[in-house]
Amino acid sequence: MKILVTGGCGYIGSHTCVELLDNGYEVVIVDNLSNSKREVVDKIKEITNKDLTFYEGDVRNQELMEDIFERENIDAVIHFAGYKAVGESVQLPLKYYRNNLDSTLTLCEVMSKYNVKKLVFSSSATVYGSPKSLPIKEDFPLSTTNPYGSTKLMIENILKDLVIADNSWSIAVLRYFNPIGAHSSGLIGEDPNDIPNNLMPYIVKVATNELECLSVFGNDYDTKDGTGVRDYIHVVDLSRGHLKALEVINKTIGIDYYNLGTGKGYSVLEIVNTFSKVNNVKVNYKIVGRRPGDIASCYADPSYAKEKLGWVAEKDIVDMCRDAYNFVIKNKTK
Ligand code: NAD
Ligand code: UD1
Repeated sequence: MKILVTGGCGYIGSHTCVELLDNGYEVVIVDNLSNSKREVVDKIKEITNKDLTFYEGDVRNQELMEDIFERENIDAVIHFAGYKAVGESVQLPLKYYRNNLDSTLTLCEVMSKYNVKKLVFSSSATVYGSPKSLPIKEDFPLSTTNPYGSTKLMIENILKDLVIADNSWSIAVLRYFNPIGAHSSGLIGEDPNDIPNNLMPYIVKVATNELECLSVFGNDYDTKDGTGVRDYIHVVDLSRGHLKALEVINKTIGIDYYNLGTGKGYSVLEIVNTFSKVNNVKVNYKIVGRRPGDIASCYADPSYAKEKLGWVAEKDIVDMCRDAYNFVIKNKTK
């Protein structure tokens, strides 16, 4: 099967391309490199010892997308391309609505035209807003608190309407919890250019002395140690979930929604302490006030993905902390 991976040079996309190639799929990437580097394509080839086709360009470019579908015999699409920084989306909402919505609309129009109707879409646990209870199940009420989250929820609705209008589509909406870690080779991983917003990339930069001190956003939450609790999932486990979703959409029609998480919640201090211990490195931190918009705890009930996709996360928090650091250490010394 030949899979078109939009945003395949990005963090989750690159790991998914590795899993696809390792499992016998052919891979075509389209990425405009707005948040990634071209060299990732070579890294994917190096890890897998397999070839792939790369188109540098924008998913919103209908002509380019038609050209790709014309040349390649695409069987299914995994759609990662989009912007993902929550804070920036509050400052620049139009940039987020324009890119995330337009890229999806163009992609679906072109897929429709070429009669390719199998799609895996990257959604987020952010669509659950402030969950009323934990763990979070797929049928919980949906709401959002920022433009980034709103783009994900809008796209979920667009895809639902598409399936209502044409029931030959088969779509898996994957709601990711908190992906961290990197491929064990250390060749690909999360590589933010700016000061990171998310916890693990920030910890890594403190551990490597690029940043001085982690600010822990609040220790007065109603959690085990007062700091925020999240469902961290190894990016390789997450990527494997996409292959399971592909297998299912290949055999079914309609749209379905899956939480991809571990079902376990870890606090900020548990992550900091595990990271320090596993990598034998000091992580300076200080407790500061809560970050606006944060919730105390968020973790998945991943049982539906287990039942329907036959997928469970296998890697633990030690793997996640080790692999995240390994990626940065390897790439610093190069
Ligand atoms: P990423 O920024 O590393 O990857 C996205 C890739 O898409 C980048 O390579 C970027 O250059 C490309 N891109 C963006 N807009 C494009 C366009 N219009 N045309 C072509 N390429 C484009 O992000 P990621 O962490 O790998 O996330 C992938 C997807 O998963 C995103 O849709 C994101 O919203 C979603 N997601 C991510 C997380 C997370 O924590 N990383 C959590 C939930 C959902
Ligand atoms: C954030 C986004 C979410 C997005 C996810 C993955 C917000 C409000 N939510 O989730 O929509 O899907 O990233 O991209 O931005 N923390 C610190 N210090 C830091 C950074 C984080 O203490 O410097 C804490 C946070 O308060 C939180 C935990 O670490 O308790 C995880 O934070 P983060 O990695 O930003 O992820 P989320 O907030 O869960």
